[in-house]
Amino acid sequence: MANTAKFEIDGKTVELPVLRGTDGPAVVDIRKLYAEADVFTYDPGFMSTASCESKITFIDGDAGILLHRGYPIMELAEKSSFLEVCYLLLHGELPTAPEFEVFEHNITYHTMIHEQFDRFFMGFRRDAHPMAIMTGAVGALSAFYHDSTNVNDPAQRMISAHRMIAKMPTIAARAFKYSRGQPFVFPRNELSYAENFLRMCFSVPAEDWVPNPVLTKAMDRIFILHADHEQNASTSTVRLAGSSGANPFACIAAGIASLWGPKHGGANEECLNMLTDIGTVDKIPEFVQGVKDRRYLLMGFGHRVYKNYDPRATVMQQTCHEVLKEVGAENDPILQVAMELEKVALSDPYFVERKLYPNVDFYSGITLRALGFPPEMFTVLFALARTVGWIAQWKEMIEDPSQKIGRPRQIYTGAPARSFVPVDKR
Ligand code: ACO
Repeated sequence: MANTAKFEIDGKTVELPVLRGTDGPAVVDIRKLYAEADVFTYDPGFMSTASCESKITFIDGDAGILLHRGYPIMELAEKSSFLEVCYLLLHGELPTAPEFEVFEHNITYHTMIHEQFDRFFMGFRRDAHPMAIMTGAVGALSAFYHDSTNVNDPAQRMISAHRMIAKMPTIAARAFKYSRGQPFVFPRNELSYAENFLRMCFSVPAEDWVPNPVLTKAMDRIFILHADHEQNASTSTVRLAGSSGANPFACIAAGIASLWGPKHGGANEECLNMLTDIGTVDKIPEFVQGVKDRRYLLMGFGHRVYKNYDPRATVMQQTCHEVLKEVGAENDPILQVAMELEKVALSDPYFVERKLYPNVDFYSGITLRALGFPPEMFTVLFALARTVGWIAQWKEMIEDPSQKIGRPRQIYTGAPARSFVPVDKR
């Protein structure tokens, strides 16, 4: 492919550089287009626009490939741990044993939150959606850590990163406990990241939580599957918010708000609701017809980038079977509906032609429910796991010498300039 692309308008030609990454399509660098040709480009939804340069995650949507720092998600899910993946995303390389020991210690010893912070939860209605609590509570962290607000100091950036990865399970578990009317459970330093989170969610004063290695492993793997996914809506939100130099905790709160939507992180909750509404396998044809009549979407299917099986969905499906077996729910009718619905959709021309395949959310709701979480907690767990991706991307953006404040342009189609008319003359 050529090293430049020519753009021609009104007899004027602008030569634009063509950039190449390690993998993926070449990118036409249009930065000087406005200065030289006096035109903007128009791409709502970023269908053809790369918003940044990144070394963190690579997706080949046609081939169903997802790599973090070059490592396939399947291998990480099988052989690594969530905290190791956190280190990888933040630092670019897998840690050595001593590096990991220090990192794990740093995260473990930042899991507590300020006692005053607990009062913050009490301001929410007891039936508030936990994602509403997360958006508010994580934003409120920016009022508690005044020693790490200088985003231009690498050490302060790293301490903010550690604090967020460490405190997110504590906050998420509190959001859950608050909605249940149960007392908050404090973190324990001898437990692993996933164990600690499950205990903070499911332990009550009358009965301690009993660890189960299969369920803990599943929780850890679910965190790995959601750790990062390059420039999706919530990550782009974090980058855009952070591009002004804003407080990192506030930027992550913005990411949580974006993730909440049913077309993004809220899809797993919607997907489980959909499967529950279908209820039995015999109702599938009627439901599928409704999708084809465009009355509603098949939640947990389709993806902006994947036009093939989402590799995370493969691992999630396997994890789903393991968890359901462990809790004795292999015959869960909702699982039967999911498996049959997947089969029907994958062989129906409507879905085949549009390249609609299951995404990570298709099986995650069933799995999380079997782990003991209610649907309103699903997106919270996603936010917990995605926090490391958001911070790694935010940190990369701040460290990028070509970084500028994000400021998209528009095509204005409103009224032309006109004079104000006083109210008695309208
Ligand atoms: N069910 C039915 N039809 C669908 C679905 C679906 N889930 N997804 C896409 N389509 C159809 C569209 O109607 C469109 O059809 P058309 O060309 O005849 O008009 C075609 O497939 C292309 O879809 P777009 O909406 O253009 O794809 P886009 O990239 O904008 O959307 C999205 C991707 C938002 C994920 C979409 O597939 C969707 O809404 N899926 C359901 C929600 C979901 O599962 N989200 C989770 C995504 S993964 C994540 O965030 C972790």
